[in-house]
Amino acid sequence: MKVLAIESSCDETAAAIVEDGAKILSNQVASQVEIHARYGGIVPEVASRQHILSIIPVIEQTMSQAHAVWKDIDAVAVTSGPGLAGSLIVGVNVAKSIALVRRLPITGVNHLEGHIYANWLMGYEVRFPMLCLIVSGGHSDLVLMKGHGDYALLGRTRDDAAGEAFDKAARILGLGYPGGPAIERAAAKGTPSLPLPRSWLEGTDDFSFSGVKTALLRMVEAGKIATGQDGSLPTVADAAASFQKAVVDVLVTKTIAAAKEHRVDQILLAGGVAANRRLRKQLMDNSPIPVLVPDIGLCTDNAAMIAACGYFRFRAKRVDGLDLDAVPNLSMV
Ligand code: KG4
Ligand code: ZN
Repeated sequence: MKVLAIESSCDETAAAIVEDGAKILSNQVASQVEIHARYGGIVPEVASRQHILSIIPVIEQTMSQAHAVWKDIDAVAVTSGPGLAGSLIVGVNVAKSIALVRRLPITGVNHLEGHIYANWLMGYEVRFPMLCLIVSGGHSDLVLMKGHGDYALLGRTRDDAAGEAFDKAARILGLGYPGGPAIERAAAKGTPSLPLPRSWLEGTDDFSFSGVKTALLRMVEAGKIATGQDGSLPTVADAAASFQKAVVDVLVTKTIAAAKEHRVDQILLAGGVAANRRLRKQLMDNSPIPVLVPDIGLCTDNAAMIAACGYFRFRAKRVDGLDLDAVPNLSMV
């Protein structure tokens, strides 16, 4: 079964064709990063207008890259939420138009569920029950997955999501947007020498990263981080390394504790922050339970993961009608 998927929930216009939920035939992403970088973050109105300009060329490129014609496509999957309303609407309406004209079945995919399914594109032997750590720009969720489409939310962020914290810390340190990759690059040149706090929220599987971000801000405001040539102070690179370590320590420790408590067979990492090398390595090195992670390129937003998730939805007969709508606050559980 060949699924054409469309993803436009945030600032990437993406389309992909995936066979049987596992084999990528084409995976195209038109990034808007440079457009939003000059504003220091995503401007929703600009994002939706850019999706309108990019979506048809991206789909055409996806079809030609896969050497596909329309009769090769068996079904359409599209991210229907969560995300920016104006951005989601573009993808959902284009997907519905294709389904209507080509008389194809359509399914709406939850973006976070899509992130999980990036792991199905890796050829892993996946075993349930598993614990999923989904860390993106808007979420830090710990989800117990007992089967396809069977989720229980164990923990979530109480304030800033992990990716949001990276983005804000990068802004505080003047490292630019998007913050996660900028912090990771700077951290590679520094040592994690700053005493930043960690919020453990013991007794819960929830996360909180606003405290560590505020502590970093206070240090910058108090002139405790070198912005010039003062060799006696920690550098921006040291600050980035310290911040990255603080966030990763909490994510790794709490994820492993929850995995042991729930006696899962595997831990699965997903979402844009899963591209962070320190997070990937620390989780793999410290977990006694096998850890699955997608290739770095499949961690950030893409449509191949939406196609993989869509395939399993079609298999479970979870087909939508042409009344499918964008739901900006769509929840997974
Ligand atoms: O999943 P994603 O691409 O979009 C959302 O669904 O939100 O995640 C984007 C988030 C951003 O906050 C970005 O800074 C973060 O993922 N991110 C990273 C890295 N690459 C992207 N955070 C830490 N380290 C990275 N290498
Ligand atoms: Zn995402």
